[in-house]
Amino acid sequence: NSYRIASVPGDGIGTEVVSATIQVVEKLAKTLGTFKIDFEHIPWGTEYYKQTGRYVSEDYLDTLRKYDAVLFGAVGSPDVPDHISLWGLLLAIRGPLQLYANVRPVRTFPGTKCPLNTATDGIDWMLVRENSEGEYAGQGGRSHVGQQWEVATEVAVFTRVGVERIMRFAFETARSRPRKLLTVVTKSNSMRNGMVLWDEVAATVANDFPDVKWDKMLVDAMTVRMVAKPGSIDTIVGTNLHMDILSDLAAALAGSIGVAPSSNLDPTRKNPSLFEPVHGSAFDITGKGVANPVATFWSAAEMLIWIGEKDAASKLMGCVERVCAAGILTPDLGGTSDTQGVVDAVCLEVEKL
Ligand code: NAI
Ligand code: MG
Repeated sequence: NSYRIASVPGDGIGTEVVSATIQVVEKLAKTLGTFKIDFEHIPWGTEYYKQTGRYVSEDYLDTLRKYDAVLFGAVGSPDVPDHISLWGLLLAIRGPLQLYANVRPVRTFPGTKCPLNTATDGIDWMLVRENSEGEYAGQGGRSHVGQQWEVATEVAVFTRVGVERIMRFAFETARSRPRKLLTVVTKSNSMRNGMVLWDEVAATVANDFPDVKWDKMLVDAMTVRMVAKPGSIDTIVGTNLHMDILSDLAAALAGSIGVAPSSNLDPTRKNPSLFEPVHGSAFDITGKGVANPVATFWSAAEMLIWIGEKDAASKLMGCVERVCAAGILTPDLGGTSDTQGVVDAVCLEVEKL
């Protein structure tokens, strides 16, 4: 089997963790010899924007459709307002390609521990984020800009089709995991339209999944539950904004944002799906060579599963876990290794396969 992957490293540490990951995955493919994989570099990002006035090429969607999947780094630069960079690149892909399911597994790795020590046995959750509408629909506007009476609206858009498809996806995800436990997160006390639609759709879809145990939770209370009762949680589904926030919290609770992966899936498989670390371009550590590449390794493993190389993916994760367990960790996990040190250690493990 042979695959073509679009590599879009983007900005900041995005370029560092994507290049680290390509080294590891190419090594894996060469060592196993069971599949071929080609990464083709696409230079979109802030440098591209400075040169062309656009974050992506004009025919970017057609360009991406030629690939089996996209491996993405991060976008964002101190030189450009974040809403311009994010909408210019990442959100310009997620929406039009209908990558509506953002799947974010969170796990405490061997050899690492939960920083707050709230979950002594570690954390193992699956977060499902609605990724195509809601609070990030981009609807709204500003009038009387700069005046004292300026008005700005940010309209959250929820469609029944959009809510139902993510809800179904979440119930299926929960069903595929041993505990078969789903928590639906909303804020349907103060937000009385879209969030009530979420509650209603959840109750309807649940009828088709009698084997899944589910409950619902307001998002503010959910933050407390994640910290205080982590063992009561397995799969979580929520809106674009809510899960954006909860997934950073989950990553920090489990170990570090530096290990958290995400899959932006088009479950209909009409379009290529996009795989990326949860973290951003991290200006504070860019260029220092200490970015944790594990989130992107894991994102690549999720990509391998999606394109059909499940065995290679689990072998890759085994290597990453052995390296973590041996204490070869970047500073965000309390270690002293740098990015390349982790890459080299994982490549050595891959050679032993
Ligand atoms: P961030 O995720 O880039 O960084 C938050 C903190 O986590 C920083 O202290 C950083 O050093 C640390 N961190 C992140 N990834 C790490 C890794 N792999 N290893 C070790 N430490 C790591 O979030 P921030 O600072 O809010 O955003 C920076 C820029 O990234 C902004 O322009 C923002 O818009 C953009 N961003 C882009 C995302 C994307 O492309 N998917 C997601 C989040 C933010
Ligand atoms: Mg985020």
